[in-house]
Amino acid sequence: MKVAVLPGDGIGKEIVPQAVKVIKAIEKKYGLKIELEYGEIGGEAIDKYGTPFPEKTEKLVLKADATLLGAVGGPKWDNLPFDKRPERGLLALRKVLKTFANLRPAKVYDELVSASTLKEEIVKGVDILVVRELTSGIYFGKPRGVFSIKEFPLKDYYQEEELKGEKVGINTLKYTDEEVRRIAKIAFEAARKRNKKVTSIDKANVLEATSFWRQIVEEVAKDYPDVELNHMYVDNAAMQLLRWPKQFDVIVTTNMFGDIISDEAAALTGSLGMLPSASIGGEKGLYEPIHGSAPDIAGKDIANPIATINSVGMMFNYSFNRPDIENLIDRAVRDVLKEYRTKDIHTPGTKLVSCSQMGDLIANKILELD
Ligand code: IPM
Ligand code: MG
Repeated sequence: MKVAVLPGDGIGKEIVPQAVKVIKAIEKKYGLKIELEYGEIGGEAIDKYGTPFPEKTEKLVLKADATLLGAVGGPKWDNLPFDKRPERGLLALRKVLKTFANLRPAKVYDELVSASTLKEEIVKGVDILVVRELTSGIYFGKPRGVFSIKEFPLKDYYQEEELKGEKVGINTLKYTDEEVRRIAKIAFEAARKRNKKVTSIDKANVLEATSFWRQIVEEVAKDYPDVELNHMYVDNAAMQLLRWPKQFDVIVTTNMFGDIISDEAAALTGSLGMLPSASIGGEKGLYEPIHGSAPDIAGKDIANPIATINSVGMMFNYSFNRPDIENLIDRAVRDVLKEYRTKDIHTPGTKLVSCSQMGDLIANKILELD
């Protein structure tokens, strides 16, 4: 087993080493050999190679069996042109790996119900899987960019008064039937193994591309008569997630809505620092926490490494077919959380620990558990 490790920027450099401690503990416990090979992505890669996704990194991830990523971005690179920014490196990585399905499980641990800003009865028992489309939609649609109005490729679609000024910025929401079908299938298959309910989130009342999305999801649903399907507009979904999150089982949605909704789902679990993700659908999986590089807390050893550690759990399940190891990591995390907390989820009666201490505690717990 070969894993490409891309810590990236900001807290990525602090949380990934904790996840690596967990990989080492698993290696030891099960007598596995997991080869780790490090690479650069995002801001760090820009500084070193002048591009957020160097060829060297591309080769590395294509050679590895799975990729573990920390986070990218930071104020240092915020003024770069768009196609040179750290975030573009991440998008390129997802595209190269063809990981069109991003699974983001939002599970509220009983130990953490009091860490959420919502009432206990609302969040206790919440267990949602957000299936976010990851390699298309408005994140990748063309045309995109800022054009002088004279050179704007869609000039003919607009009336003169709609194109007043000098420049125009544009992004495009695009989905083909095939792109919707394959992500919908992933969602229905996942629901089959869970509570057999899929909620597809769109803005079908306004956006044609997502009304089309809804229609294709309906078609796919015909092959899954055992799974209940409902549709929700994204504005309503954002509200329902706060009002009564337990109505959701699997959520399937577009790239951008999934980005937004999954941050909201993370807040239910107590912290953005808790949500792992697995990006699948290509030959090789990509595993990363859903949060960003958090420049405001970077370098302080206070970040929560659990999202990344649980992403390692998902890696063992999806890339190496070891759901038992994912389970063990989950148990170790829960056990440690009974007593110890990083700052973001600290509540009275529990001990406050640093990012690196949390990594040690979970790695040691893995070795201890049966
Ligand atoms: C995420 C992040 C990324 C995204 C950014 C960093 C490009 O917010 O993984 O949710 O928008 O996909
Ligand atoms: Mg996001």
